[in-house]
Amino acid sequence: MSTIVLYPSPGMGHLVSMVELGKLIVKHYPSYSIIVLTLIPSFNTGTTASYVQHISTTFPAITFHHLPDIPLDPLLYPSIEAIIFELIRLSNPKVENALKTISQSSNVTAFVMDIFCTPAMSIGTKLNMPVYYFFTSGACCLALFFYIPTLHKNTSESYKDMKTLINSPGLPPIPSDDMFSPLLDRNSTNYANFLVFAEHLPKAVGIIVNTFESLEPKAIKAVRDGVCVPDGPTPPLYCIGPLVAESGDVSHECLNWLDLQPSKSVVYLCFGSLGVFKGDQLKEIAKGLEMSGHRFLWVVRSPPSNRKEDRFLPPPEPNLDELLPEGFLDRTRDRGLVVKKWAPQVAVLSHDSVGGFVTHCGWNSVLEAVRAGVPMVAWPLYAEQRFNKNVLVEEMKLALPMYESDGGMIVATEVEKRVRQLMDSEDGKLLREVATARKEEAALAMSDGGSSRVALSKLIAPW
Ligand SMILES: *[C@@H]1O[C@H](CO)[C@@H](O)[C@H](O)[C@H]1NC(C)=O
Ligand SMILES: *[C@@H]1O[C@H](CO)[C@@H](O)[C@H](O)[C@H]1NC(C)=O
Ligand SMILES: *[C@@H]1O[C@H](CO)[C@@H](O)[C@H](O)[C@H]1NC(C)=O
Repeated sequence: MSTIVLYPSPGMGHLVSMVELGKLIVKHYPSYSIIVLTLIPSFNTGTTASYVQHISTTFPAITFHHLPDIPLDPLLYPSIEAIIFELIRLSNPKVENALKTISQSSNVTAFVMDIFCTPAMSIGTKLNMPVYYFFTSGACCLALFFYIPTLHKNTSESYKDMKTLINSPGLPPIPSDDMFSPLLDRNSTNYANFLVFAEHLPKAVGIIVNTFESLEPKAIKAVRDGVCVPDGPTPPLYCIGPLVAESGDVSHECLNWLDLQPSKSVVYLCFGSLGVFKGDQLKEIAKGLEMSGHRFLWVVRSPPSNRKEDRFLPPPEPNLDELLPEGFLDRTRDRGLVVKKWAPQVAVLSHDSVGGFVTHCGWNSVLEAVRAGVPMVAWPLYAEQRFNKNVLVEEMKLALPMYESDGGMIVATEVEKRVRQLMDSEDGKLLREVATARKEEAALAMSDGGSSRVALSKLIAPW
């Protein structure tokens, strides 16, 4: 029996994306079995349990091996990244035990891990397992990641203080403020961690990326040409995407509502599983949507808690009457729908009534929009999302930017302007044409003989 061990970082987005890779492999290569090592931290009681249960029952070739939790006190860590990296580092002995146990009953063909799980690379190497990365963001993001050590050597300043443009191979110039958020402060532990991850990237046997060739050709070429790692070899790149978790047969009130709206008339707003806004920002969005006059479907979450001990917990059920401007829901009743916390995003984006997407630019959301051919407005919040915004706007021509006022707020008139521009202007029309072209290319890439299927077979060949 040949087994592929997958090791995702905690967090729903990383887990789902990694499991999609497992599903892809067993679909086309049914002789492999997949074991997913999962860390389910006590400080984040997210809803992975039902998802894991669902996958285990529908895909018998995929099993989950839960690593024992290591209790950590969230109050001692400055950020969600910091506590996750610490958990991963401390879990290394458990990963080693798990891999040894697994190899007793099967041959481990490949150990595929998330970039954040880099501390486990040494274990894979020690146990003679070929170590691969599965990079859950795009090739542009990967190209920059490879280049981090080079940029590091070229300056002693923090990106947050530079106020300049960062030039990297294969990428448009990126404002230094828009670098990956954990990199902004050169003195932070997150920065140190990212530098270590970046230094380990070239040591993998291969890098699997959730993208497709024609979505990010310049970045892919730069990586393949080796110019992102000037002082050493670059491992082969396998662009096997876009992998997107299908919603399956979902029913949700918002889909029934969408059925009643005209084709391409609705702008959909959702900001990922962690994206939250303060109360005053929510009110600005509401005013902007109202002034735009367009139809909308908006997923609203409660503002972040002020209690430090709550900060890594999912927010409670939002109270819409309290959060939104007085009378807003009544006044927009015939053209807008606000849903609480969650919507079946893949089904929403592929619904014919949806004509635009205001997104936080998380990579899974970007790919879901690309697959559905929906143009975007980029409203990044955290992680690598500000970087993704630059790429979506400048390079891929798939999104309009949303501009912040001083203080970081996006005001109602900006929301109104961008929604109108996306839904009802020549600019919006151009974006929609590009989005339609990418949608067709994405489908082609994933079909028999398509670039992503060829990449998958090249990946599997040495196994
Ligand atoms: C591992 O592979 C070897 C050689 O192909 C085979 O002889 C052996 O039975 C396999 N071990 C397991 C546990 O499947
Ligand atoms: C290094 O920094 C200088 C000035 O800040 C810049 O002109 C140059 O392009 C940078 N080189 C690299 C390799 O990033
Ligand atoms: C890092 O911290 C040291 C000590 O507090 C400080 O002197 C230095 O300027 C900081 N460096 C950057 C790049 O922020």
